[in-house]
Amino acid sequence: MVVWSPFRFNCGREIANRFVIAPLTTDASNEDGTAAEDEIEFVRRRSASGFGATISSATYVKRDGRSWQGIGAAHDGHLSSLTRLAEAMRVAGSLAILQIYDGGRIAKPELIGEQSLRAPSAVASLRPGAKTPRAMTADEVESLIASFRDAASLARKAGFDGVEVHGANHYAVHQFFSPRANLRTDNWGGTLARRMNFPLAVAQAVRDALGPNLVAGFRVTPFEAEADGYTLEDAKLLCSELARLNLDYISVSLDDYRNSRPMGETRVYSGEVEKRHTPAESPVTALARVVAGRSAIMASGGIKTCMDAEGAIELGADLVAVGRAVVVDPEWLAKVRSRSEA
Ligand SMILES: Cc1cc2nc3c(=O)[nH]c(=O)nc-3n(C[C@H](O)[C@H](O)[C@H](O)COP(=O)(O)O)c2cc1C
Repeated sequence: MVVWSPFRFNCGREIANRFVIAPLTTDASNEDGTAAEDEIEFVRRRSASGFGATISSATYVKRDGRSWQGIGAAHDGHLSSLTRLAEAMRVAGSLAILQIYDGGRIAKPELIGEQSLRAPSAVASLRPGAKTPRAMTADEVESLIASFRDAASLARKAGFDGVEVHGANHYAVHQFFSPRANLRTDNWGGTLARRMNFPLAVAQAVRDALGPNLVAGFRVTPFEAEADGYTLEDAKLLCSELARLNLDYISVSLDDYRNSRPMGETRVYSGEVEKRHTPAESPVTALARVVAGRSAIMASGGIKTCMDAEGAIELGADLVAVGRAVVVDPEWLAKVRSRSEA
């Protein structure tokens, strides 16, 4: 079965099988952005079961962009905590990948203060009770890109094998690409091409900080379920440009890869909105086709059995990320392997 075969990334790093632990936020870190002991043990126990790679929970690059109380990679004070986390992930030979994010308009006002809420444009999220952010200045946009670059440098120093940009699930990088959230008229918005500039600049900054020998990934929501959101055709163009930056993988974030349902901004699945916008073609297949082997494709959403994982590979994925199944059962992978060998 392909899922148990090794895989080699563009950068030369190899993994033993195609299974990856998906990024899983626990909202249980210390207030200063260092990882709590329980959090490190949570990761160690799951990585120990033989995953090819483990991706960390989304890690903030700027303290005023936090959407929950998670870990940070915002300054040197986070280095020793990140080093311990990377060691825990690598306990059984899994590659350790740090996911980095900024919350933008869905940062949590209770954590950062309502006045600090900043985003591509002064447009509130669709989440119930969302506050209206202020539009970032061009200097703030440049500074946020630099924070992603610095976080990637810190990850490298901490011994991570790679970094994933969280460009999905309605956080800041996604917001810059979204015509619903980004109404800017400068270099960072206005047209589809200019809405790509921020995601591409962040990906390039991360690739530069990591150098050619570490894994650089990017997680994308393949289309927006909301009316007037970006389409799968738009995401195809973005992913094609991302692949030109020699990224090692593009991760396609779906709630369930089979029904092509992305995470909506409200996180309430009414069914109606999602059905209206579901594309005919699987987003995994569509993005694999445009990327055409230049970067690996990682699929996620609803993978609970070996057959689910093989199904995603048949659609065009090279790798599969598993979330809820490993939350529920830390030994999930070992059990899946013994069942598939039986
Ligand atoms: C508790 C929890 C925390 C999550 N945290 C993150 C995160 O930090 N970053 C991210 O990109 N996705 C996050 N996700 C989404 C998962 O990575 C995954 O894409 C999603 O759960 C679908 O895969 P699954 O069906 O295997 O769980 C989280 C999901 C859950 C359930």
